[in-house]
Amino acid sequence: MLAEIEKLHEEIQQDLDSIDTMEQLENLRIQIVGKKGKLTAYFGALRDLDAKDKKQVAQRLNTLKDTFERLYEDKRQVLGAAQLNAQLEREYVDVSLFNSLKPHSLGHPIMQVLDRIVDYFVNMNFSIQSGPLIEDDFHNFEALNLPKFHPARDMQDTFYFKDSLLLRTHTSPVQIRTMQTHSLPIRVIAPGSVFRRDYDLTHSPMFHQVEGLVVDEAGRISFANLKFILEDFLRYIFGDVRVRFRASFFPFTEPSAEVDISCVFCEGAGCRVCSHTGWLEVLGCGVVHNNVFKAVGYENVSGYAFGLGVERFAMLLHRVNDLRSFFETDLRVLEQF
Ligand code: PHE
Repeated sequence: MLAEIEKLHEEIQQDLDSIDTMEQLENLRIQIVGKKGKLTAYFGALRDLDAKDKKQVAQRLNTLKDTFERLYEDKRQVLGAAQLNAQLEREYVDVSLFNSLKPHSLGHPIMQVLDRIVDYFVNMNFSIQSGPLIEDDFHNFEALNLPKFHPARDMQDTFYFKDSLLLRTHTSPVQIRTMQTHSLPIRVIAPGSVFRRDYDLTHSPMFHQVEGLVVDEAGRISFANLKFILEDFLRYIFGDVRVRFRASFFPFTEPSAEVDISCVFCEGAGCRVCSHTGWLEVLGCGVVHNNVFKAVGYENVSGYAFGLGVERFAMLLHRVNDLRSFFETDLRVLEQF
C-alpha cells in the first residue's frame, strides 16, 4: 500500500503542475480529498490493516495530506494572482487616450451664455466679485433701502431660514458687500445663483443673475454712462437690436429703469412672445439710491447698478420657451447647444 501511496504522491505532483485554471484545481481537490477522493479512500482502507501497518501507513497518509494541502494552497494563490492580472489587463483603460469619436462638451448652455456676458464686462475693465448664497436680512434687503415691512419686499418671494437668514433673492447684496470692503473706484460685476419661490415656464426656484456696480466720486458717474454701456452690451449679446430705457422702480436705485430690446422673434413687429408689443424686457438698472450709500457709510459718491437674469438671456438667444428644459439634465436637449 505504501508503494501505491508514493505513486499517488507523484501523480498529484504531476497533476498540479499541468493545471492552469481554478476549475481544474477544484476538480483535482475533489478527486484527491473529496468524499470519494483517492486519498480519502486510503484513509478508509486503514481500518482493514493490522495495528503495526496501520500506524505506518496512517503517518504516510497524513504527511501526504498535509503536503497536498500546502501544494493546493500555493497553486490556488498562483492561479488567483494570474486571474487578477488577466482581469486587470482586460479592463485596462488608457485615460490619456484622445477619443475623437465623442463630441466634446462646450459646457451647459446657461454657463455658455454667462461666460459671454462676463467676457463683455471683463473686456470693459470690470472685475468679478462674489458673495454668499445664504444671506442675512441686512445685505439682501435692509441696506438696499428695503426696510422691514416695505411692500417692495413682496416683489421677491423669499426662502427664509431662522435668525433672519435667507437664500439671496438677487445678486444685489454683493453691491453692499463690495462697498463694505473696497475703496473707490468700484467697477465690478457679480455673477451667481439666486433663489425665489417660483416655478413655471419662465421661472425656476434657482436661477442666475449678473449684477453690475460702478461707483466713483460724486459727479463722475451718471445715467449717461449706464445707458452707454448697457446699449453696447446688449448689442454685443443680441446683435443688431434696438434698445429702450423705460422708467421703472427699484428701491435701491433712483431714477430706475427697465431695459427692453426689440423682440428677437418678430424683430419688433409684434408676436406672442413679446405680447404684441414688439419689445422684450431684459434687465433692471438705475442710479444708486443715496440710502444705499448711507447704509455702507459712503459720502459724496455717485454710481450706477444693473441686474440681469442669465436664464432669460439664454431663452431669448436660443429661442427656448420652457426654462425648465435647461435644468432637466436631458442630454438630447443639452447637446443641441
Ligand atoms: N436686483 C434687481 C432684481 O433682482 C435687479 C436690479 C439690480 C435692478 C440693480 C436695479 C439695479 O430684480
